[in-house]
Amino acid sequence: MSEVRWLPVATLAELAVDSNKAFKVDGKSILLCRTAAGVFALANRCTHQLAALEGGRMRGHQLYCPKHGACFDMRTGSGIGPLGKVPVPSYAVQITDDGQISVALPETVTT
Ligand code: FES
Repeated sequence: MSEVRWLPVATLAELAVDSNKAFKVDGKSILLCRTAAGVFALANRCTHQLAALEGGRMRGHQLYCPKHGACFDMRTGSGIGPLGKVPVPSYAVQITDDGQISVALPETVTT
């Protein structure tokens, strides 16, 4: 069983609904995606050709890589379509009542 660490990443005030933004956490680039359904966390690196996912178009729970358009489910990191064969690591998210967003990172994150 792998250990996880809950690390603060950002606040809700820093992330508008229907937007995504990358934050450095423990030396890693973590992408937070906020929709009306909640906040989701992914590694900010596409598994197709390793481009940053930040700024990718969002539609429902789908996130599209800005480089070539690979599509990933932001809830799970699983890929949809031929360019998304390899899932993007995804991380559990907690949000406190005062809007602090924290992400559960495994002890060894490979992003
Ligand atoms: S690098 Fe993301 S789709 Fe190619």
